[in-house]
Amino acid sequence: MSNKFPEHFLWGGAVAANQVEGAYLADGKGLSTSDYLPYGIFGEIVDREEKDIIAIKDRAIDFYHRYPEDIALFAEMGFSCLRTSIAWARIFPNGDEQEPNEQGLEFYDRLFDEMAKYNIQPMVTLSHYEMPYNLVKKYGGWGNRKLIKFFTHYAKTVFERYQHKVKYWLTFNEINMSLHEPFTGVGLPRSSSKEQIYQAIHHQLVASARTIKLCHSMIPDAKIGNMLLGAVAYPLTSKPEDVWATHNENHAWLFFGDVQARGAYPSYMKRFFKDNNINLTMTEQDKEDLKETIDFISFSYYMSCCGTADNSPRLKGNVLDMVPNPHLKASEWGWQIDPLGIRFLLNLLYERYQKPLFIVENGLGAKDVLTADKTVNDDYRIDYMNDHLVQVREAIEDGVEVLGYTSWGPIDLVSASQAKMSKRYGFIYVDLDDDNKGTLTRYKKKSFYWYKSVIETRGEVL
Ligand code: BG6
Repeated sequence: MSNKFPEHFLWGGAVAANQVEGAYLADGKGLSTSDYLPYGIFGEIVDREEKDIIAIKDRAIDFYHRYPEDIALFAEMGFSCLRTSIAWARIFPNGDEQEPNEQGLEFYDRLFDEMAKYNIQPMVTLSHYEMPYNLVKKYGGWGNRKLIKFFTHYAKTVFERYQHKVKYWLTFNEINMSLHEPFTGVGLPRSSSKEQIYQAIHHQLVASARTIKLCHSMIPDAKIGNMLLGAVAYPLTSKPEDVWATHNENHAWLFFGDVQARGAYPSYMKRFFKDNNINLTMTEQDKEDLKETIDFISFSYYMSCCGTADNSPRLKGNVLDMVPNPHLKASEWGWQIDPLGIRFLLNLLYERYQKPLFIVENGLGAKDVLTADKTVNDDYRIDYMNDHLVQVREAIEDGVEVLGYTSWGPIDLVSASQAKMSKRYGFIYVDLDDDNKGTLTRYKKKSFYWYKSVIETRGEVL
């Protein structure tokens, strides 16, 4: 067995615009749903036009201005790929304009050009947990079919602009999370009914398929994928009812992959919709559009969970409530650690879809301590990532086609769930605390050198 990862495997990290860029109103950017969630996904929705507050994400780690320094650090680690998102509201501040905001487009030109200097491939998520807030206010978010048109217009605009610079695209981040946190995903109120949420998701799936078609025709040498939160569940016990409940729990997220990779609603959803009295409006054209499928599957993986038919206590992930596995330990944020789960998930997805896979998020959020000599001895992060990457290598040996790995938050960023800096994922420490105080100076952690050696040796040091 080879200890090395494939030669063309892409190595890097992943961030999201609203968690790093800051500059939340710079150069004509409009307010987004993320700006309306200043305390994170779980927090209160705040009307930013009405209420004058200062939120940590407004400045974040100021990647908008400091990206050259950060990209140089990523290059020093040997990155061949950086996943980031475009903030839709930088390009179309209200979401429904015909003409894009040139200053917003220019920012991403500068960013992609900077990456090109170091041969770092950008992988771009078109919507990472945010959309222009105006689309919620004026149209009711994705519950309105018009959103399909606005989104595809946005996609077409950025495909045209960056066709020579970006060859990896993703449509919606963790699309399956729209079910659990509709405001973040489809821009619906949290009190929405299941039917309203699934209708909005349907519009999003159609928009995703039309975007895939656009990408295929406009940038034939690019690859476009979906993005799932790989919420893999194991049966809590071998009791048949638990096994069946787990089967259904996995369907709840695999459904998105099934539509995006196979081009149609799976049969089990028809039963689910019937049982839940959900009647979707789905045109013949929608069904036709959905046939355009993705080139690869991308997913985030942080932890596995358990499925049970009983009312077991649940613990909170960043969006999901999960039944914990009694055989696993958890991080200090309560996320269970299961490296073998990533091998299981890679095999499961590959057997199901026979499409290449890309791990676009994985990492450990922890409370780091900056030492007197300005570093962080984050052996816990190294252990977590080492153990997961060993399992990725095993999956490749199992025959799974894995295109690359971008760790979550290669530089400390504002956490999505609670908008906190103290939940750090990076190889690079950023001097900023939860009270929005700090110099924003960057420091290399111990894991910085470790990841560099992993990339340099193509995984031989694992
Ligand atoms: C993923 C999201 O769900 O998890 C990221 O795509 C997020 O945006 C990451 O940051 C980790 O979650 P958190 O809440 O620890 O930031």
